[in-house]
Amino acid sequence: MIRLVEVGPRDGLQNEKDIVPVEVKLQFIEALAQAGYQEIEATSFVSPRWIPQLADAEEVSHQLKPHDGLTYTALIPNRKGLQRALECGYRRVAVFTAASEAFSQKNTNRTISESLQEFAPLVEEARKAEVSVRGYVSTAWHCPYAGRIDLKETIHVTEALIAMGIEEVSLGDTVGLAVPSEVELLLEQLHHHREKIALHFHDTSGTALANVLRAYQMGYTVFDCSAGGLGGCPYAPGASGNLASEDILYMFEQMGVPTGVDLQKVAAASSQLATHLNRKLPSRTLARLLATP
Ligand code: HMG
Ligand code: MG
Repeated sequence: MIRLVEVGPRDGLQNEKDIVPVEVKLQFIEALAQAGYQEIEATSFVSPRWIPQLADAEEVSHQLKPHDGLTYTALIPNRKGLQRALECGYRRVAVFTAASEAFSQKNTNRTISESLQEFAPLVEEARKAEVSVRGYVSTAWHCPYAGRIDLKETIHVTEALIAMGIEEVSLGDTVGLAVPSEVELLLEQLHHHREKIALHFHDTSGTALANVLRAYQMGYTVFDCSAGGLGGCPYAPGASGNLASEDILYMFEQMGVPTGVDLQKVAAASSQLATHLNRKLPSRTLARLLATP
């Protein structure tokens, strides 16, 4: 069994230039919820000046429909983000930092150590409110500004997040340049933490699914994905979308590995969004499903 974290409504939409109306976001999230995910990252409570697309986080969050077995998550950069998420009733939030100083500065205007210092009391506050915390380490292998990352940095940040009580750390290949041998090198060294590690691959180079397979073969079972393969970070030039949910679902389904998520329903959610965006989405499996009657 693997667990998929659907990040399409947050990572998928944050890079869209034209503002997607709240009703369209809600339809998209509801269609994904009906596909059977256990966790959907619905939005982020970041500065609306930095990510205008998600300035409607409160409006979206207040209208999310609860579903048995599903937890909605919100991405937050700081205490202000936590307060906003708590006011909207989230039971799980996700903080984010990076293995690259240059990326941390561009993405959050903070050094890595400033972010970590800010997260420690935040995690404590979340724990008191009985809210669980996930954490992202962006640029785990490659940085758009600093190039290849010394894996010691990635391990250091990952362990710092785990030490402060963060329950799951998602390692981000933010620019989508990692290949299976690099994934293996890092995951070997984090193997004792594997129950607490998730993998978050962007698919710029077409290697995301190969990376997932390598991680799965090494005993890692939590993967982030985005419906249709939408996604990217405005502060990571050159990066393309996340690994498409349809593509990872197809692979595991055919391998006989249960995911609990219905591929056809995810494809229907993506297809509805593609109609709104008026363009084809990157997922290859989605394209095949739409082409086959
Ligand atoms: P800053 O400008 O340094 O913030 O931004 P500040 O602390 O100096 O505050 C400036 C203003 O922002 C103040 O307002 C604050 O109240 C406000 P003013 O007094 O000027 O009116 N502010 C906020 N407003 C709303 N919500 C908040 C918040 N915090 C401060 N939470 C900050 C620092 C971190 C806020 C900014 O850099 C930011 O929002 N960055 C987020 C960028 C982002 O969302 N990037 C994409 C997500 S990360 C990602 O995609 C990677 C991932 O997918 C994994 C991977 O692929 O690797 C997760
Ligand atoms: Mg991402």
